[in-house]
Amino acid sequence: DLSLGERNREECVMQQGLPTQRSADRPFDPPQELLGGQPLTRMTYADGKAGWLATSRSAVRAVLADSRFSARYELLSLPTGMPADGGALPSAMPGDLTGLDAPEHTRYRRLLTGQFTVRRMRQLTDRIEQTVAEHLDAMRRKGPPVDFVAAFARPVPTLTICELLGVPYEERALFEDNAVTLVSTVDPSSDEYAKAITGFGEYVARLVQAKRAAPTDDLLSGLTTSDLDDTELATIAGVLLSAGLATTMHMLTVGALAMTRTPGLVEAMRDNTESTVEELLRYMSIVPFSVRTALEDVTVDGELIKAGETVTLSLHAANRDPAVFDDPDSIVIGRGKGGHVAFGHGIHQCLGQQLARVELQAAFRALATQFPTLSLAVPFESLPGLQDGIVFNPPELPVTWQQA
Ligand code: HEM
Repeated sequence: DLSLGERNREECVMQQGLPTQRSADRPFDPPQELLGGQPLTRMTYADGKAGWLATSRSAVRAVLADSRFSARYELLSLPTGMPADGGALPSAMPGDLTGLDAPEHTRYRRLLTGQFTVRRMRQLTDRIEQTVAEHLDAMRRKGPPVDFVAAFARPVPTLTICELLGVPYEERALFEDNAVTLVSTVDPSSDEYAKAITGFGEYVARLVQAKRAAPTDDLLSGLTTSDLDDTELATIAGVLLSAGLATTMHMLTVGALAMTRTPGLVEAMRDNTESTVEELLRYMSIVPFSVRTALEDVTVDGELIKAGETVTLSLHAANRDPAVFDDPDSIVIGRGKGGHVAFGHGIHQCLGQQLARVELQAAFRALATQFPTLSLAVPFESLPGLQDGIVFNPPELPVTWQQA
């Protein structure tokens, strides 16, 4: 109903930031206000400034591919939340490529891309398959019900990042605890969170020293031969952790949940893993939006975006664009690879997407093969956060299965 979509959009202009109310019976769908309207609409940001919301795939891609739009944190208005002091965000630390534009971004991105070699990816793939197998075995030994997040969705990506960065096996526990706190529901202003950040920072700084003294075969060691300094190296480790851990964990969680609720998805995961993972990435859009600010006046889709205005790119809405995807609000197996913007677009497109795909494919193929009767151990309606929040991200997923 287009007219309803339009009316909701008008209200959305009047309210601050992105709408966050989703339908409880369709929790994987974006808020209704994001669907069915113009490609670009006006939106008011948390700092009170006016800007734009882009919801069509073509407008989202156009902005993300255009160097006249900046990703620098200090230029961005935020569609949700605000820095504690109400001011602008601080600019990115050297090494934090997500908040930098070319040419600073280009330098870090090249150095990092150089580390994702075919050989390293092959080694990582072997380790991921091993990690997946070990955790599914442990889950089976423990017996149902288990919390799938604690038993699988959190440790598998955590151990993969350890492997990528070259965290020694015996030091994993130290790193893992802090990493898990940072992606948990712990309040970011709490002492516990502050302790985890500090502990993680200190650990990574020590790790960088150790790799400089005795390089091993991993990403951090590989980067010690570049001209990056210790602070940049530690920042890069932090960026990989924050970008790669919560995302993969979230996708594993909602993917498993979808398997328990979608007829045919178990078989599709088992027999047609690659395209099923792509379809779930599109459908879930667990990184729901990205933001950019215009450095000069730019016209996109006939709308004039003025210098200094921020555009929120709704990746979630773009991935449900009816002009691109038939029956966009259904999981359709075999749509073919690509086409979605779940990993973003342009120069900041996800650096870890190849690794994420390897993790998701290995995990879901094994899960669907070994636990085809996986089901929820609690009523679906009792899962927290069905309706509130920009995307549905259950902190726990109690599951059960028929034992042989
Ligand atoms: C960037 C999604 C997994 C590392 C991005 C962006 C998206 C995204 C949408 C672009 C953000 C923007 O343009 O503002 C995802 C999803 C994942 C995932 C959906 C899993 C399902 C990973 C993993 C890693 C990783 C496993 C690392 C090992 C990064 C980095 C960037 C990034 C470093 C910044 C790239 C740049 O600014 O040039 N990701 N990501 N991501 N991702 Fe991922």
